Amino acid sequence: MDRILVVDDDIMNLKMAEHILKKNYEVILVSSGQEALDFLAQETTDMILLDLHMPELNGLETMERIQAMDEASEIPVIFLTADNERETEIKIFNAGAMDYIQKPFLAEVVLRRIGRLLELFHLQQSLQQEVEKKTGELRESSQRIQRLSEQIMMSLASVIDAKDTYTRGHSMRVAEYARELARRMGKTPRELDNIYYSGLLHDIGKIGVSNKIINKPGRLTEEEYNVMRAHPEIGAEILGNISELPDISIGAHWHHEHYDGSGYPDRLAGEEIPEVARIIGVADAYDAMASRRSYRDVLPQEVVRKEIEKAKGIQFDPVIAEYMIKMIEEDKEYKMREQ
Ligand SMILES: [Fe+2]
Repeated sequence: MDRILVVDDDIMNLKMAEHILKKNYEVILVSSGQEALDFLAQETTDMILLDLHMPELNGLETMERIQAMDEASEIPVIFLTADNERETEIKIFNAGAMDYIQKPFLAEVVLRRIGRLLELFHLQQSLQQEVEKKTGELRESSQRIQRLSEQIMMSLASVIDAKDTYTRGHSMRVAEYARELARRMGKTPRELDNIYYSGLLHDIGKIGVSNKIINKPGRLTEEEYNVMRAHPEIGAEILGNISELPDISIGAHWHHEHYDGSGYPDRLAGEEIPEVARIIGVADAYDAMASRRSYRDVLPQEVVRKEIEKAKGIQFDPVIAEYMIKMIEEDKEYKMREQ
């Protein structure tokens, strides 16, 4: 049974309200605004009938305090008033009341109005709960998909890195450096995610190159070199199916292009090379120098810095290379390297 709190300083009005309502509702009677506030601090109710004119706290003041309360602020309020001035009506609705009932009460009107408003209020409440529930479920499932995609991409990246004895952790580091470059370039969080994933999978085309070639200790023959150079296109083809993240295929396709047009596979130059690929190109070359190879150790940081500087505008986009140089200069302990 719905509960109704009736607030009125006139005992006759309280009795009258109780008489009308008690058949259909649990009725609580209080005779001042303060008593109503005390009650609401302890207990709850489905509706409040609030007298407008009361000594000390009047109806509007009481309403204001109810609205400042945590849970009680949600309870629908109907004002009881003997006034029939337009201005009172406006004040009542401005205060956030659901409706008002004219005194003296007509039993039929009171019951109908309260019944209808309660029904409306409960409907609204359950609708709101349903929306909240569905929104929560949706959020949760989209977070799960996000985590799942990330885990799959990480696994793929480790598959690539496992193929090459000398590139352990390479994809992960390139992804991190590329994301940091992009962050400094002012990219949005969504773009940062895309760039990170592109970095993770930029070398996925190496899956299509035989282990013998990838791990060959000496120089590659021209034929072997050509097979190796096919990895960007193989990668682009593999990732081309991921239509939700078009950037990752772009990163794989053109990360070996050079700013001066001397790279591969398409000899693109300058801004013809998509920005994602230019960013990954810098991060990739940086990590190649800052990690061990079969024939050498990690290069000294100063050597790496100079190489990036030298290739500005030749191999690298000069602006992105400049961001990389800043990162190197801030990395006082040379932490950005294969450990
Ligand atoms: Fe590559």
